[in-house]
Amino acid sequence: MLRISAFRLLGRTGASRLSLLEDFSLRHCSSDPLGVRGDTRDARAYFTTPIFYVNAAPHIGHLYSALLADALCRHHRLRVPSAAATRFSTGTDEHGLKIQQAAAAAGLAPSELCDRISAQFQQLFREADISSTDFIRTTEARHRMAVQHFWGVLKARGLLYKGLYEGWYCASDECFLPEAKVTRQRGPSGDLCPVSLESGHPVSWTKEENYIFRLSQFREPLQRWLRGDPQAITPEPFHHAVLQWLEEELPDLSVSRRSSHLHWGIPVPGDDSQTIYVWLDALVNYLTVIGYPNAEFKSWWPTTSHIIGKDILKFHAIYWPALLLGAGMSPPHRICVHSHWTVCGQKMSKSLGNVVDPRTCLDRYTVDGFRYFLLRQGVPNWDCDYYGEKVVKLLDSELAFALGGLLNRCTANRINPSGTYPAFCTTCFPSEPGLVGPSGRAQAEDYALVSAVATLPKQVADHYDNFQIYKALEAVSSCVRQTNGFVQRHAPWKLNWESPVDAPWLGTVLHVALECLRVFGTLLQPVTPSLADKLLSRLGVSATERSLGELHFLPRFYGHPCPFEGRRLGPETGVLFPRLDRSRAWLVKAHKT
Ligand code: MSP
Repeated sequence: MLRISAFRLLGRTGASRLSLLEDFSLRHCSSDPLGVRGDTRDARAYFTTPIFYVNAAPHIGHLYSALLADALCRHHRLRVPSAAATRFSTGTDEHGLKIQQAAAAAGLAPSELCDRISAQFQQLFREADISSTDFIRTTEARHRMAVQHFWGVLKARGLLYKGLYEGWYCASDECFLPEAKVTRQRGPSGDLCPVSLESGHPVSWTKEENYIFRLSQFREPLQRWLRGDPQAITPEPFHHAVLQWLEEELPDLSVSRRSSHLHWGIPVPGDDSQTIYVWLDALVNYLTVIGYPNAEFKSWWPTTSHIIGKDILKFHAIYWPALLLGAGMSPPHRICVHSHWTVCGQKMSKSLGNVVDPRTCLDRYTVDGFRYFLLRQGVPNWDCDYYGEKVVKLLDSELAFALGGLLNRCTANRINPSGTYPAFCTTCFPSEPGLVGPSGRAQAEDYALVSAVATLPKQVADHYDNFQIYKALEAVSSCVRQTNGFVQRHAPWKLNWESPVDAPWLGTVLHVALECLRVFGTLLQPVTPSLADKLLSRLGVSATERSLGELHFLPRFYGHPCPFEGRRLGPETGVLFPRLDRSRAWLVKAHKT
């Protein structure tokens, strides 16, 4: 946290506290941001990723931020199929000292570097099936206009003043640091150099006249917001951490730099000698995308969920809500925070040479495979480690063997020669275990399976709501295992279609397993869209039958007609997911990474 002692602020003081509390209203916010509870027909949602710095090529950490947002957004679309109900923005953060310096080091004009790296992010997101509706670049004219307008509002409300800033600045992290957050480290020449205690990046001493934002006025409103809305920042430890930070003094924030020092940015309106601080510039992207300052933004803003990494929590959970309150708006509805990926136990960094290229991973493990890996293994609460062997093991066991094997067992010609969704026999599998008569074949574990799969969509939705996508996938995977157990238990390959005793039960076993697969395919759409499409197409599930609203699991068991019974399966399209360890070359490569 910044401390006021890091600053020497000279300037006009004593601006009114404004009517901040009156402005601070969440009354328009939906209490159900992800739209699973209640009537969701009109539930809008706006998901955002951070906008990515263009100083270097994308890595798997960046892709992870985007994938989390993508999965949340796709899950919301499953609940509220109307395309107009969801927006999902991503983009690139192109201004600031960091980019200015990176361009100079590469011998490029900043705009050339921005074009080049922004294109790489766009291409990666296309290849990774990120279903964003908006891509913003902060160098666009629409954004400059939004930032300058936002600045004007803060100014008009008396929240900006000119003062002398003196303290440490870290260009890599684009942030100001108090003395307590700076340490000395030996540089390449052996000299002691000041660096940020948190990131280890070099810092430099800055002393200049800037515009200052009255951040200190917002400590109490921020505390009230967070105490009044325990879901505002999730997972909970991050919510708690922000409240802890707010226990300390909240110093005012310098929000511009001298243009002679920082020219690559948006000029302060009416004062070309100053450039707007890159974090203020960057944060406003979330408003630009939804049309700010035009009135249309008002209908989207209350539905905003920001997905961010833990390193940028302070900017999103303190600076941004304070700026919004200052401009008369509500804080973001929800901030979902994730931790970081390390590689073979080490932090990813250019200097260590261990940065993992996500495009190589998409090639090697397939798009759906790598999406599944990152979302299945990534736990928002703590850092996760990446290494190739782990990816191969997970994908082989859960996608190739368990899920692919299950599909194959129920659709293969030798077991399902008619290539249809067989009929369900209610006397073989009555709706209650107590009703099992002489021709009943279902066992206690079979009822447990039906109950587990019936509650799975709700369980998955709850995990999405709590931003625990890995738990949703864990739950699906556990049901896949249970379904394989069901098939194994009843060994349909030992039953005979020609036998009047076996045939109804054989059909029922396959019917139940196919119903389970339909649920898994539907629920996997947000994470593995192509694989889920392949699975659902093979089951003969049409495009209009794939939303959560249409997902009525095993209706025959509950006494309702089943639209799939007797329907032809879709065409055979080969293995659902290829085994990765089949190819030694892949494995050797993967071990090395
Ligand atoms: N430009 C700012 C964000 C501005 S948003 C208004 C920025 N950019 S970044 O490119 O450095 O980071 C973008 C996202 O990538 C952040 O959410 C960050 O946490 C995430 N990651 C960067 N390294 C990461 C890992 N090693 N692992 C997981 N995510 C990480 O910050």
